[in-house]
Amino acid sequence: MTRKIAVVGAGYVGLVTGVALAQLGHYVTCIDVDTTKVDQLNRGELPIYEEGLRELLLANREAGRISFTAHPKRGLRSAEVIYIAVGTPPKEDGSADLRYVESAAYDIASYATQECVVVCKSTVPVGTNEQVLQWIEKEKKEDIKVHIASNPEFLRQGSAVYDTFHPDRIVIGSNSSYAWDVLTEINAPFEAPIVKTDLASAEMIKYAANAFLAMKISFVNEIANLSEKLGANIEDVVSGIGKDQRIGEAFLRPGIGYGGSCFPKDTKALSHLGSDFMERLRLIETTVEVNDMQPSRLIQKAIKRYGDLAGKRMAVLGLSFKPGTDDMREAPSLSIVNGLVDLNAEVVAYDPVAMERAATIFEEGVDFASSVEEALTGADGVFILTEWPVIKNIAPDVYAARMNQPIIFDGRNCYGIEEMKEAKLEYYSIGRPPQF
Ligand code: UGA
Repeated sequence: MTRKIAVVGAGYVGLVTGVALAQLGHYVTCIDVDTTKVDQLNRGELPIYEEGLRELLLANREAGRISFTAHPKRGLRSAEVIYIAVGTPPKEDGSADLRYVESAAYDIASYATQECVVVCKSTVPVGTNEQVLQWIEKEKKEDIKVHIASNPEFLRQGSAVYDTFHPDRIVIGSNSSYAWDVLTEINAPFEAPIVKTDLASAEMIKYAANAFLAMKISFVNEIANLSEKLGANIEDVVSGIGKDQRIGEAFLRPGIGYGGSCFPKDTKALSHLGSDFMERLRLIETTVEVNDMQPSRLIQKAIKRYGDLAGKRMAVLGLSFKPGTDDMREAPSLSIVNGLVDLNAEVVAYDPVAMERAATIFEEGVDFASSVEEALTGADGVFILTEWPVIKNIAPDVYAARMNQPIIFDGRNCYGIEEMKEAKLEYYSIGRPPQF
């Protein structure tokens, strides 16, 4: 059955959700307060880089199934299902800032014109959905029935479109059988197992999933750090433990720590939620602590190698928090580039998509190159910070040919140790023996 759907918030989650629902045949209106963004989207331009999204947006816009508005009244009128997909940024103390969720709730109360299911996609502390319902109930017109559901998303930036159409599971938390039925029907085409829960469990699933994944990364990074000291190779260690099906090899890539808009924010929010209820979540606190330390370990390797980095020309390859996105939120590159600048190194950075964004973040002491080759030319060392294909496929002889001193600090283990040994390059990576 085709539905009339509103999505409040045209950020990364809202946009992908809206476009995917339109692709399923529903009529979707995305509402965002940012008029510039709305105009851009109505012209078919995307404010974010996300593989495959533009094509889907254009096709559904053409078919008249998706539109964008800055007027909540226009977007919410006669909507049968309303997704809340606004940001929940961290407050100074790490807790989630719910002001945008609250404002979405009041808009729904003011402008919903018929019985509807309000679906919260935003990552929110346990208990928030109940609160959202109360906000709506307090202000809405008496004769309109509102059902609430929590439907957390598990998309990864960079593969959001693929993930939307190939989910491992779909979680629907609600206390309303009407909401369950509507959302089960909407989600049926995704052909994924549906986990039906109450509201609180669905909210908890989202935090627990992200915290567990973040914990895996901090775990592997700790073992990698120790492996380096003891002469073990983390890749063999991961392969050896990961073949145990209870452990698995996924999400155990060591590196310079997790970044992005989700893991750093959600681990801190969960930890905060625990302390609100006198439950210290020590595993989560330590996960955060290990992650905060991880980027500086790569710099320490350089300090150990050069002694003084002042005046050394350092190429930095990759700035976004991971490949496939121009997002630099909480990217490990932030502290590494700033650390190099503080050590008076001359930094020349390159990223295939994030440089425009990076230029607004790094003000002084960072030059930007227009290609990998340009960044490497004359460099005394190179820091590999994001494993973009264009970076991890650089042939080893390019380093030797371009650089003043071909010394590589690889924060993403892009190369095999043997390969670097054969190329006679000086190579430092994460959790593996150095090559020189
Ligand atoms: C993450 C989750 O993977 C999604 O399931 C979730 O929906 C999303 O957060 C969210 O809450 O919205 P995302 O932040 O896009 O997705 O990125 P990931 O691919 O999970 O990577 C996060 C960070 O972990 C990156 O900096 C990446 O380099 C790092 N990472 C990941 C590792 O260092 N090692 C790994 O093995 C995997």
